[in-house]
Amino acid sequence: MNQGIWLQDLPVDLEPERLPHHVAVIMDGNGRWAQHRNLPRIMGHRKGVETLKELLRCCRDWGLKALTAYAFSSENWGRPLEEVNFLMTLFEKILRQELQEMIAEDIQIRFVGNLSSLPLSLQAEIKHSMEMTRQSQGIKFTVATNYGGRQEIVHACKAIATQIQKGLLKPEEISEGLFEKYLYTVGISHPDLLIRTSGEMRISNFLLWQIAYSEIYVTETLWPDFNRHEFHQALYAYQKRERRFGKI
Ligand code: IPE
Ligand code: IPE
Ligand code: MG
Repeated sequence: MNQGIWLQDLPVDLEPERLPHHVAVIMDGNGRWAQHRNLPRIMGHRKGVETLKELLRCCRDWGLKALTAYAFSSENWGRPLEEVNFLMTLFEKILRQELQEMIAEDIQIRFVGNLSSLPLSLQAEIKHSMEMTRQSQGIKFTVATNYGGRQEIVHACKAIATQIQKGLLKPEEISEGLFEKYLYTVGISHPDLLIRTSGEMRISNFLLWQIAYSEIYVTETLWPDFNRHEFHQALYAYQKRERRFGKI
């Protein structure tokens, strides 16, 4: 595999027309990265943010259309309060810091998940950033925060049931297409490639509906160490796959 020198341009062994349209990442391994260095776990989260910023720019440089990152799961509330609070404050700070640059780079940011139970000050930053980048025509960057795939599906079911109860919808009108309109990810294409770092072979409640036919790539690399070379390898592996969608 040709590694390129700076990898600003699309590496020569990747075919632009066969790139995934949408990449989703389960950014795992921040805590272990820090522990390996005898640092507190939060230092791993800090470094992890830098990785995400770099990956977003890389996606843009290489012409990908959408990136979705799993930042905080519905189950992550079960972590020590200190870590949870650190993450919430970190999300807010980064959002405030990066907004102008995202606008300048034409990035459209969107948050998916149960946003209403996030701290109010974070909710305000989220709302502001989504409004300010709504018109952006560049890469669609989605951040899953307080997100759980099961919760999302239950949330959609409740909304559909309410529509039926009000007489606005008939049960026979429910289809896959209609169901998707009630998911947090409405309007976002399904991920073509799902990457998980840190070697865990599991989904951890991420995008359960949307990844039905995504290609899955797992790397042992911990999230803070995931870089352009690693991403290059993931895309290279993706291009070697044969996506059959149940056909032969
Ligand atoms: C992923 O890294 C980040 C979040 C879940 C917020 P972890 O914090 O899960 O890191 P490990 O898996 O403990 O190493
Ligand atoms: C998944 O990582 C959630 C995020 C990356 C935000 P976890 O570290 O929470 O997943 P498990 O506990 O290993 O399944
Ligand atoms: Mg983890």
